[in-house]
Amino acid sequence: MSLWIEKYRPNSFDEIIGQKDIVEKLKVMASKKEVQHMILSGPPGVGKTTSAITLAKAIYGDTWNENFIELNASDDRKLSVIQGKVKEFARSKPIDAPFKMILFDEADSLTQEAQQALRRMMEEYSQTCRFIFSVNFQSNLIEAIQSRCAIFRFQPLTKEDVYKFIDRISKGEGLEVTNEAKEALYTISKGDLRSLTNILQSISNVTKKIGKEDVYKGSGLINVQKLKEAVKDAMDGDYKTASEKVESILNEGVSIKEIMNNLFNIIIYDEKIEPKIKAYIIEKLAETDFRLIEGATPIIQLQAFIAFLSTIKK
Ligand SMILES: Nc1ncnc2c1ncn2[C@@H]1O[C@H](COP(=O)(O)OP(=O)(O)OP(=O)(O)O)[C@@H](O)[C@H]1O
Ligand SMILES: [Mg+2]
Repeated sequence: MSLWIEKYRPNSFDEIIGQKDIVEKLKVMASKKEVQHMILSGPPGVGKTTSAITLAKAIYGDTWNENFIELNASDDRKLSVIQGKVKEFARSKPIDAPFKMILFDEADSLTQEAQQALRRMMEEYSQTCRFIFSVNFQSNLIEAIQSRCAIFRFQPLTKEDVYKFIDRISKGEGLEVTNEAKEALYTISKGDLRSLTNILQSISNVTKKIGKEDVYKGSGLINVQKLKEAVKDAMDGDYKTASEKVESILNEGVSIKEIMNNLFNIIIYDEKIEPKIKAYIIEKLAETDFRLIEGATPIIQLQAFIAFLSTIKK
C-alpha cells in the first residue's frame, strides 16, 4: 500500500494548490537558476516542503537527488551532524549545476548552537550551496539567519483550495465524498493537507462513499454538534433520540475522556441553563467522571447521565 501523501505530492509547480505568489517567484528562480537562501514559513501541510522539492526538480532535473538533500530526522539536528554531513555536502561541488540546495525541514527545532554553526556555513559556502529552512514560525530562527534569507510566508489554504485537493484525490482513488463530508474534512484538518490526506486514506479502507459520519469516525475526533444535539434532546425530555446519538458517538471510536470533556464544556457554556440547575448537572457529571476513572463501563455511565438529563427541566 502506497502512502497517499507521497502519491499525491505535486511533481510540478502547476500541481501546487494555492500559494500563487510564492509559486510564481519560485518559477522565476527555477528558470533563471538563481536561488537565494530562503525561509519557507507557515502552518503545517500547506506545501512548504513540497515547494522546495519541486524547485529542486525544476532546477536540476535528473540530478536533483545528487544536488539536493532534505534533513528532517531529529538525528540530523545534532551539531556533530551539521559539522559533518551538512558541511561536507555544502562545500563539495554541485553536479552539472550552479549550486546545491539543502532543505532543513521542521527547522523550528534546530538548537541555537546548530543555527550559529549553520549561519557561518551559509556565508562560507554561499558559492556552492543554498540553504532553505522550512518552519512553522520564522521567529524560531536566530536573527542572523533570518536576515540572510528571503522570506516566503505560506498562507493557510482556503476552503476552496482544500475542496480542490479533495476532488483530486477522489478522482484518483474513485471516492465519492459528500459536500458535508468535505466541510467536515476542512474543519478537522484546518487546511493541513497532510493530515487531511491521512484521514481520507484511512477512511477509504472502510468505504469509498464518504459521508460526514465517516469523516468523524475516521479522524477519531468527536462530532461536537451531535453531542450538543444529544444534550438538547435529553433536556427537552426526548431520552430515546438523545441516547441513540450518544451511542452512535461512542461507536465512532471517540474516547470517553473526550466525550466527557466536551459534555462539560457544552453544559458550562449553555446560557439557557439556570445556574442552580447547572451546578446540579455538573455535580452529576463529576460523579460519572469519577466512576469512569474507577473503571465503570462507558456506555452504561453515559446512558445513565443522559437519562438523568432527560428528567430535569431547564
Ligand atoms: N499547496 C499544496 N498543493 C498540493 N498539495 C499539497 C499542498 N500542500 C500540501 N500538499 C499535500 O500535503 C502533503 C504534505 O505537504 P508538505 O510536506 O509540503 O507540507 P509542509 O508545508 O512542508 O508541512 P510541515 O510544516 O508539516 O512540514 C504533500 O505530500 C501533498 O500531498
Ligand atoms: Mg514540511
